[in-house]
Amino acid sequence: MTLASKTRNSNRNLHLGNVESWEKTDFGITGKTNHGFFTITVFEHDTIRVQANQEEAYFPNPYSVVAQPKHCGFSIEEFEELLVIKTKTIEVRIYLNPFHIKFYDRNGKLLNEDDASFSISWLGTEVTNYKKLQPNEKFIGLGEKTGNLNRAGNAYTNWNTDYFAYGIGDDPLYMSIPFYLGIHNQTAYGIFFDNTHKSVFNFGASNNRFMYFSAEDGEIDYYFFHDDGVDKIISAYTKLTGRMEMPPMWSLGFQQCRYSYYPESEVLNLAQTFREKDMPADVIYLDIHHMEKYKVFTFDNEKFTDPKAMIARLKEKGFKVVVIMDPGIKKEESYAPFNEGLEKDLFVKYPDGEIYEGQVWPGWCAFPDFTKEETRTWWGEKMKFYKDAGVDGYWTDMNEPASWGQHTPNLIDFHYEGELVSHRKARNVYGMQMAKAAKEGSELQAPNQRPFVLTRSGFSGIQRYAAAWTGDNVSSEEHMLAGVRLVNSLGLSGVSFSGYDIGGFAGEASKSLFARWMSIATFSPFYRAHSMINSCDSEPWSFGEEVEEISRNYMKLRYQMLPTLYSNFFKSTQSGLPIAKSLAIDYPFDAKVYEETYQNQYLFCESLLIAPIESTKEITKVYLPEGDWYYFFNDQKYSGNQIIYVDTPLSYLPVFAKAGSIIAMQSAISHTDAPHEEVLKLHIYKGKGSFTYLHYEDDGSSKDYQKAAFFKREITWDSDQQEIQFGAVEGNYQSAFKDIQLYLHGIDSDSVQMEDQQINGHQENIAFLGRLTEFDPLPDYSQPYYEVEDIHSFRIEHRSTAFKIKI
Ligand code: NOJ
Repeated sequence: MTLASKTRNSNRNLHLGNVESWEKTDFGITGKTNHGFFTITVFEHDTIRVQANQEEAYFPNPYSVVAQPKHCGFSIEEFEELLVIKTKTIEVRIYLNPFHIKFYDRNGKLLNEDDASFSISWLGTEVTNYKKLQPNEKFIGLGEKTGNLNRAGNAYTNWNTDYFAYGIGDDPLYMSIPFYLGIHNQTAYGIFFDNTHKSVFNFGASNNRFMYFSAEDGEIDYYFFHDDGVDKIISAYTKLTGRMEMPPMWSLGFQQCRYSYYPESEVLNLAQTFREKDMPADVIYLDIHHMEKYKVFTFDNEKFTDPKAMIARLKEKGFKVVVIMDPGIKKEESYAPFNEGLEKDLFVKYPDGEIYEGQVWPGWCAFPDFTKEETRTWWGEKMKFYKDAGVDGYWTDMNEPASWGQHTPNLIDFHYEGELVSHRKARNVYGMQMAKAAKEGSELQAPNQRPFVLTRSGFSGIQRYAAAWTGDNVSSEEHMLAGVRLVNSLGLSGVSFSGYDIGGFAGEASKSLFARWMSIATFSPFYRAHSMINSCDSEPWSFGEEVEEISRNYMKLRYQMLPTLYSNFFKSTQSGLPIAKSLAIDYPFDAKVYEETYQNQYLFCESLLIAPIESTKEITKVYLPEGDWYYFFNDQKYSGNQIIYVDTPLSYLPVFAKAGSIIAMQSAISHTDAPHEEVLKLHIYKGKGSFTYLHYEDDGSSKDYQKAAFFKREITWDSDQQEIQFGAVEGNYQSAFKDIQLYLHGIDSDSVQMEDQQINGHQENIAFLGRLTEFDPLPDYSQPYYEVEDIHSFRIEHRSTAFKIKI
């Protein structure tokens, strides 16, 4: 056997080899090596794409990336042993013999380097990129993955999986996002491996030489990101894979689900109970029992005799309705969707043309091929059925796709936008394409209404179509905290709008667990309680008076926070940054934030530090990063960079406001469409330097905001100057707030000069001043811990000019 044929032995590693030739392209270089081909593309100054394959063609994933390379100015220098590409942010050194890559920042600091011997290699069809582990390198992200915030020393698989009652260390789950960030030596980078096959990310598990990412098949196609700060890297990743659109305001409210609420009298009763008990809520879900024999696009006429009338009555009470849609189409001769799917050739098939069938809730089912445009359009047209009944939102479940047995045969074919590929390549994007069909279907049925889709499965880019929840969690303390990490990790990976089943889906929550979960989830982007069939009642009033009271207080707090929350959702649509931010985003080089004790902590809406804690603990340690912090419920001030002990009775979740920041609130309301008192309450926390809060409003439901029907203004609080500056208003939507109240925290009210100040050329008498706090989730909400004194408000019209107030 010759050496050449031996190296091609698919049982041994085959490295890309030495570079034989290369040439410049419009956006970088492309070349040939002993064993394959490579292309390096400067996508943006902060984004470099690396592709390699054994054959001279690439087969890129058509689903995730929505950007094109931009001419951003770069240079290529040629040396004997290497080529150097420089953008204003990144330097890429491509070594020729053998081929391997190193990335540097523009100050010459090493960011990331291939293992020189193996860099890009194949083992049979499996393709891998090996990267040297850097000293003390931390790895974060990778989407919906269990485990610690820092993923070093562990390995993960991306293969969308229906996993009922998963354990808090189990992998893989429902959604795959092959994007992670590496942090070391006071710098950070990101890598998105854009290969939809089953893939593995090994961050130094079972070896001390490298991390690697590999895929069962396909090619190396990854994007390397670098800029100053983890936030900018996440922004670059979401610029590439897209960002969420503005969701309807109601989807930020409290949502109640159960597998399943029926018949219609029970649903109506549920809605009525929320209102009677003065517990704010916006959404009720109809799980699979709304259907006849679990057939999508049907109602069970016995359980729901008049769905349209029921939904109309729910709307009168201020509720929206979300229905579940599972992909499996029951194989039943008289069932129109099945017949249409057959006729129009919309189902997934075996390579010999026979329809693939798998079992799910309805029994044997065919599966729409959502990787085909015609199927997505057809699905959207079928959604008229729900639209006509008055449904507002859609929940795409079981879209991994799930089937009993959980071993979908790999040989089945998917259209994959014309490429025709097997399940191995298509599975991970199937759920995302179903979510896309649901989003576009909702838009088809109601063009000027913002869609709301909730999905279980997804892939990179899913944030463009849907919010996500973390599937079938369990009623346990560990799961509650694991859910926070999952949501934070999704946020690091481009999915800003996500949440977990409050109370746990499987099992029974104890009273205390439910109460604590309700309080933590108040600070989750997606806020929904859900529980499974045959479990005890799990509505927020089902656990006794104390839990009811605590739940109500936190639910009210959530609705009071809506101005800030909605504004932060808007910001996220612009930046791709999450609403629940792991501390690793703002404090990436602070080793404490990765410690197991503190890794669940996060910033919510930029200014609130949340320290989730088990309901069984009466006291906890909290790590406060640099800066000063105010305990949210009594304004006690703490300096940062220290660990503090905090009492954690059930009614008090450790929440701290960041010194120097602004939190915008409103009066508590029973649902997002209910009128508030038209007073924007700006809570201003004395700190250092200046902080800008971007205040954003629109009608909360239509797409008119895309045509400038919004109200947007920057409000900057300069703690040093004690000055608050209102920027000019942008957009032509009338703000829903007529008055503004300033609540001053950390400022001695006696020291405040209440002077007449000049606003807009008019002499206006501005008496303002609230102090201390209005938040108190103690059981008796009407008797706050601290009195709110001396609140005066000043009237503020819809001004387009900027003005300033000196405090
Ligand atoms: C599985 C989902 O994860 C769960 O939330 C839902 O209730 C059941 N399917 C029934 O539809």
